[in-house]
Amino acid sequence: MYDLIVIGAGPGGYVCAIRAAQLGLKVACVEGRETLGGTCLNVGCIPSKALLHASHMLHEAHENFGRMGLTGAKVKVDWTKMQSYKAETVAGNTKGIEFLFKKNKIDWLKGWAIIEAPGKVKVGDDVHETKNIVVATGSVPASLKAVEVDNAGGVIVDSTGALALPKIPKSMVVIGAGVIGLELGSVYARLGADVTVIEYLDVITPGMDAEVQKQFQKILTKQGITFVLGAAVKGAEIVKGKARVTYALKKDDSEETVEADCVLVATGRRPQVEGLGLDGLGVEMTDRGFVKVDKHWATSVKGVYALGDCIPGPMLAHKAEDEGMAVAEVIAGKHGHVNYDTIPGVIYTTPEVANVGLTEEAAKESGRKVKVGKFPFMGNARAKAMLQSDGFVKMIADAETDRILGCHIVGPGAGEMIHEVCVAMEFGASAEDLALTCHAHPTTSEAVREAALACGDGAIHA
Ligand code: NAI
Repeated sequence: MYDLIVIGAGPGGYVCAIRAAQLGLKVACVEGRETLGGTCLNVGCIPSKALLHASHMLHEAHENFGRMGLTGAKVKVDWTKMQSYKAETVAGNTKGIEFLFKKNKIDWLKGWAIIEAPGKVKVGDDVHETKNIVVATGSVPASLKAVEVDNAGGVIVDSTGALALPKIPKSMVVIGAGVIGLELGSVYARLGADVTVIEYLDVITPGMDAEVQKQFQKILTKQGITFVLGAAVKGAEIVKGKARVTYALKKDDSEETVEADCVLVATGRRPQVEGLGLDGLGVEMTDRGFVKVDKHWATSVKGVYALGDCIPGPMLAHKAEDEGMAVAEVIAGKHGHVNYDTIPGVIYTTPEVANVGLTEEAAKESGRKVKVGKFPFMGNARAKAMLQSDGFVKMIADAETDRILGCHIVGPGAGEMIHEVCVAMEFGASAEDLALTCHAHPTTSEAVREAALACGDGAIHA
């Protein structure tokens, strides 16, 4: 009899299993993939970051090395080698989780789980008994009507297929200007493809601060990506080995077509819960197909919990990890907690885009008086030395209390820099607290401090 069986070994599930084992519980984790780590490690965050890193290096070599006085034979792409570098990166990480499972004495039950009844999990022919179950089954790409994805074919693909294309396409259409579309679109643009992003809304990266959306789009356009906004994709077909995408412009309903070697469908993801037996168990779901949970991640069935992408909230690996730790603590009788107000979001393009807390628009809509401090990377010595001075830091604080409400960064290493603001917000800091904290010179983090200073008497270098 286990204390806990976690279903799914993605960042939510494996972290939950490890924390539960550390807290003294007898734990098993069910995973049907050949390797642990879920979407994130196998076909998501990690392989995409390998390709983003490699293609960024290529971009640096082509665009900036000469300016820095680095010359030599032109760097070329060996796609097969880049794919094996990506595979090695993935393998190193998935094996790492296997090691951690062994170290923490967590049983890996290989196969796909079905919950037969509360406390009974079937994997293959075996039924395992447990006091608690955590559903951490993640999400899968959402399909688009009239666009049939065939990852093996390599012409119309989703994010999984786009990570392993047989060759670098000369042209690519990306459907959806969300995180996946822009990250993978950037990869192929840097590798030489003509990339066109078609987006239904009139802006890219829905939900982000409006100034960030504008600046980010400008930067990506400068990098050679074409945007068609306010356009709904109606269908895609393959004609003589090439994809033909049809879209309708919202402003006048006119239909247009565009051809490309490859189409990436990046129109969102949906929870993956089919075949688990949740219906039979009577687990309540939301209207949009997510597992319904209470404040302690308990479902409507006693002893069954859920977390990560299969419950409502942002579909982010680190949100799932935080929930994984918290759920383990709840099950172990402690007080697991997640502060959803300080979860950062990062887009790993160049420059990176990162945010935490409220956008300027949301802060104003909440009825508060708001002050905004902005600082451009043009005024940051380190960014200039790296030839990466595009972008800015935007700090949003309550005009009455000076408490930091949010921060939005477009710039080099934004995904690392955002964390000092997360910590500050976690401690309820004011913009002045951050502004009075000494920041090493020369670092890009100084721009964060300058934005905080700009909420008060003014930035120094602006
Ligand atoms: P998304 O929801 O971020 O963006 C999808 C976009 O497609 C939206 O802007 C939407 O308006 C557009 N769209 C939908 N139907 C369309 C149509 N017919 N024609 C034109 N445009 C259409 O979804 P995405 O990028 O697929 O990502 C899925 C999830 O994975 C997100 O929750 C994202 O946060 C997460 N993710 C996060 C990453 C990160 O944190 N770096 C990396 C990759 C994924």
